[in-house]
Amino acid sequence: MESTFLCVFSDKLWAPCFFRSIKMFMLVSAMVLAALTEGLQVIGGNKTVVQGGTVVLPCQLIDTMETLSQISWQRITRGKLRNENFFTILPTDGPKFVDGHDERFRYIGIFDDNNGSLQLSNVTLMDEGTYTCIFTLFPSGNHKTEIPLNLLVPPVSSLEANPPVLGDKEVSLVTCTAAASKPPAEVRWLTGDLAGKLRTTTSSTEHGNGTTTTISSLFGIPSREINHQVVQCVITNAALLSKQTLNFTIQVHFPPTDVIISEWASNSFECVTEANPDANFTWKRSDNSWPQSAVRVEGASLQILSMTSHLNGLYQCEASNPYGTKRSHLYLHVSSAGCTVYWTLLILLVILIVAVAALLYLQTSGKLQRIREIISGDMQPVPRSPSASDRADSHDGGL
Ligand SMILES: *[C@@H]1O[C@H](CO)[C@@H](O)[C@H](O)[C@H]1NC(C)=O
Ligand SMILES: *[C@@H]1O[C@H](CO)[C@@H](O)[C@H](O)[C@H]1NC(C)=O
Ligand SMILES: *[C@@H]1O[C@H](CO)[C@@H](O)[C@H](O)[C@H]1NC(C)=O
Repeated sequence: MESTFLCVFSDKLWAPCFFRSIKMFMLVSAMVLAALTEGLQVIGGNKTVVQGGTVVLPCQLIDTMETLSQISWQRITRGKLRNENFFTILPTDGPKFVDGHDERFRYIGIFDDNNGSLQLSNVTLMDEGTYTCIFTLFPSGNHKTEIPLNLLVPPVSSLEANPPVLGDKEVSLVTCTAAASKPPAEVRWLTGDLAGKLRTTTSSTEHGNGTTTTISSLFGIPSREINHQVVQCVITNAALLSKQTLNFTIQVHFPPTDVIISEWASNSFECVTEANPDANFTWKRSDNSWPQSAVRVEGASLQILSMTSHLNGLYQCEASNPYGTKRSHLYLHVSSAGCTVYWTLLILLVILIVAVAALLYLQTSGKLQRIREIISGDMQPVPRSPSASDRADSHDGGL
């Protein structure tokens, strides 16, 4: 101050002297401030959070005796491309959103402790970026730190297969996708015994929002041998607590092979074949007349419920799936008319014999006449000792 006053009275030296004085002033001020802010630090951090989670953006001012007049937060994120103030904390008004309320942010620091920490919940990819925490002190001014916020986005995993038909050319068997993850996911296949027979290819695509989709395909020759073998797609990513394993059963489609009809229980026949997808079975009789009540058909099985000679004939079992149809035949011959028929006939015969015998007995003993008259409603008393001819007449007339 003193040197400035001295300069004013000396025209010639005014300008250089003035600037020298300014320099001097600044130097002194800087020294004063340096003394004030010596050791002063704003401590932040580098934070990483999984999408949807909650994160604390730490901000702490230490080693200062100056007066804190305001804490403010700025951000530059995927969602807000211009660096802007979005949150301020004043000793009087407390925390305040500058440009639009966002209830996911909560001030969890304590102003008097020079703690400006913010908590952000339900974090999205759009929140990724750099957060700047600024302490305004008197008299030294602003002191800040930058807190990078990194987002981890778990992949959306899926398997997709378009089962090939039996063949001898290599085709894609299944595709495993780890979609839109950050950082990129690692996708591997565990193929066990099939390791030498299968091949994998992996590719990845980065999206505008910073996520990456990784796709890995499994190739092989669609043979019967690999059909129904189980392979696994293993996805590893920092956003996942543990690796994901997706099991897949390889499918190779083929038409039904030979159809075999076997008797698996007495009077029950079953049609067997190999096919992928599984075959549907249809039983038919060559003449199309189906002895409904005597058989029961359920899918591949044919069950004979009662042995009758109506069953005799040629039966056909047809196995089909979208890739083809195969048939096999069964000739059914109910020999000796089956036990049931035999016994039925025998019983009928016995009844007949008994009936005839009874009839003969009744006729010869003369009781039949009386019975017949009673039945026909003729209530005339029968003579006690009718002549033989009368009896014969009435007998004839009755017949
Ligand atoms: C923050 O940490 C992440 C990983 O934790 C790292 O990739 C990144 O480079 C770090 N950023 C800074 C600015 O230190
Ligand atoms: C976070 O998300 C959950 C579920 O979507 C919701 O219930 C909750 O209110 C959200 N919290 C905040 C602070 O937005
Ligand atoms: C990122 O972009 C991809 C592709 O457009 C999209 O599928 C995905 O859902 C986006 N992820 C997020 C977290 O917004």
